[in-house]
Amino acid sequence: MNPCVLSLAEQVICRTDRDHPADAQLRLELKARHGLSRAETAEVSRTVFSFFRWRGWVEEGRSLGDQIIHAVELADQFSQQPESFSVSELVARAVPSWIQSEVEITPEFARSLQAEPQLWLRARPGQGTFLAERLRDCRSCGAGPLADTLAYHGQEDLFRTGEFRAGDFELQDVSSQAVGLVCAPVPGETWWDACAGEGGKLLHLSNLMGNKGLIWATDRAEWRLRRLKRRAARAKVFNYRTAVWDGGAKLPTKTRFDGILVDAPCSGVGTWQRNPHARWTLTPEDIHELAELQVRLLVHAAAAVKPGGRLVYSVCSPARSETVGVVEAFRTRCSAFAPLNVKNPLVPDAPRTDTILLSPQQVRGNGMFIAAWVHGRPDA
Ligand SMILES: C[S@@+](CC[C@H](N)C(=O)[O-])C[C@H]1O[C@@H](n2cnc3c(N)ncnc32)[C@H](O)[C@@H]1O
Repeated sequence: MNPCVLSLAEQVICRTDRDHPADAQLRLELKARHGLSRAETAEVSRTVFSFFRWRGWVEEGRSLGDQIIHAVELADQFSQQPESFSVSELVARAVPSWIQSEVEITPEFARSLQAEPQLWLRARPGQGTFLAERLRDCRSCGAGPLADTLAYHGQEDLFRTGEFRAGDFELQDVSSQAVGLVCAPVPGETWWDACAGEGGKLLHLSNLMGNKGLIWATDRAEWRLRRLKRRAARAKVFNYRTAVWDGGAKLPTKTRFDGILVDAPCSGVGTWQRNPHARWTLTPEDIHELAELQVRLLVHAAAAVKPGGRLVYSVCSPARSETVGVVEAFRTRCSAFAPLNVKNPLVPDAPRTDTILLSPQQVRGNGMFIAAWVHGRPDA
């Protein structure tokens, strides 16, 4: 291994902990280094993520450098001969054992966690084919709205492309795109994106509304909303307004909405393929605290849904407490809402259901749970 790559990876790994995630530390470290080639930068990223992905296999008694080299060897072995790893070994070592009380770790799930993640783009509506021709190395995910969902296999730094700067596409995981498609807002409606963060889903909702109608975008973190505004300007999205909301019973507006999306803060277990470091810092207590917050956010936001309006809940986690547990708690607290059967956008032949669990092995994206309700009587 290139000694410069190894030493940089060591520094990033040493600075990574519960409050300093690997991807953020990596960005900081790479930003501080000038003169690294694109290939070296990519190699440092791959080395850091391989270390955390294969951490369950490396011997902690060895030097960090040796552990890193061993992890990268395992990653190479897995990409060339995945069958050389036994299923039971993958299930036992890829994740901490306590998570089994929250998620069934199937062999397919464990295998998908050890593979390199897929990069997904979302083109402007109707522009998927054109964008794929321009960028090359793209594959469209399907027909209809999924024609704008592209899997990218190339090596370009997409943030530096003219198409990105012109707002022709967003980097957005396929499962996050499914959330917007389940919401299915139409032009002229009024929506509330209650945990809008930096606006990934808001931009999609606006595209689906043809930039017509209004979306309230709120979040507890004002700095995230500032980033949202920059992203929206690049994407030429204008039909939104922002406000800070901390999830409390005091709502940011008296407006009643056609639809509300609560894309709640969560444990991120569904992103463990992309963020392997998080496997080793999450605790069962974190999941329980998050589940309580998720119920609170849903119950408070629900008060602003118009009669006949929709409420959509999403988390990138398959953990029982954050999925079926939250749905059950909401049912007991908000009896005016009925489960709403919706189409699974990524499995168009599947029957309509009121909850959808997208698994990484099925969609080659993040694990995502989505639930939908209607305020009042369900549709027939
Ligand atoms: C899953 S992220 C949202 C991602 C965003 N919807 C997107 O698609 O880019 C969850 C968001 O919830 C916000 N959040 C956390 N606690 C909150 C609270 N008590 N009230 C409101 N928002 C909160 C976080 O700041 C974070 O931006």
